[in-house]
Amino acid sequence: MGADHLSGAAMLRIDGLRKAFGEKTVLDGLAFEVASGEVVSLLGANGSGKSTSLRCVVGLERPDGGTITVDGVTAKPGEAMPTVAMVFQKIHLVPRRSVLDNVCAGALGRLGLSRSWSVLAFPREVQAEAMACLDRVGLADRAREKAGRLSGGQQQRVAVARALCQRATVLLADEPVSALDPAASEQVMNLLRSLADDDGLAVAAVLHQPNLARRFSDRILGLAGGRLVFDSRSAEVTDETVASLYRPALEALEAAESAESAESAEMREYA
Ligand SMILES: Nc1ncnc2c1ncn2[C@@H]1O[C@H](COP(=O)(O)OP(=O)(O)OP(=O)(O)O)[C@@H](O)[C@H]1O
Ligand SMILES: [Mg+2]
Repeated sequence: MGADHLSGAAMLRIDGLRKAFGEKTVLDGLAFEVASGEVVSLLGANGSGKSTSLRCVVGLERPDGGTITVDGVTAKPGEAMPTVAMVFQKIHLVPRRSVLDNVCAGALGRLGLSRSWSVLAFPREVQAEAMACLDRVGLADRAREKAGRLSGGQQQRVAVARALCQRATVLLADEPVSALDPAASEQVMNLLRSLADDDGLAVAAVLHQPNLARRFSDRILGLAGGRLVFDSRSAEVTDETVASLYRPALEALEAAESAESAESAEMREYA
């Protein structure tokens, strides 16, 4: 898998990315690369900046500083790059439209029709391309059904097909399997892996399942406080390294719980 690709030029390069919400610094000079054909996982405690980093890359947040370069082209601040697509834990499909229409929507940017697809019949060639994308994710036979009728795992694969119809070269995934059962998770992770291996996409996925990260990605990035704390080949990431990412959050929780129980002990004494 990815080892061959690691020497290749980065398809996605993030450098010195900074983002604050009010006084709170959320990304503090984040830098990493993803090569074509590579799957990279982002691990980190809640609030460590994983989603914000991907949202900056896809243009949903405007970074305060740093650069985002896709296939050698550096984005203007806050600019959405047409070849970067993202899938989310909460799958954003239009449930009453057909599966095929939802995939066709990936082509809207290219067609210059960003908001007007509610009344749109997509051109034949777009439909043909969308069919091929659906076939790629194993759902061509469901094209005519309403998207809302599919299972969560199938809907996530439709969202991936929409990204393919966008002709994405970089696929970002924010907790793509957090709402899926183990079998569907496995299917979606296999799909992401094969999009890197067979189609040369650069894939970056936020996961809360270290074991899936190890099994399916070439490298694992550890985030804490909006900074990279490690960037290692998956095989080299130990349980201890992973545990250290979540320890501060656990310690904070334990501290809060023991403060709470001390407080309730005090309350009992007063009573
Ligand atoms: N739009 C916003 N306005 C204000 N604060 C925000 C906003 N978006 C994110 N944050 C804050 O930025 C920090 C990082 O959030 P982010 O969603 O990137 O974390 P995360 O690593 O994805 O966490 P999780 O594992 O819970 O999804 C958090 O403290 C969050 O509250
Ligand atoms: Mg998040």
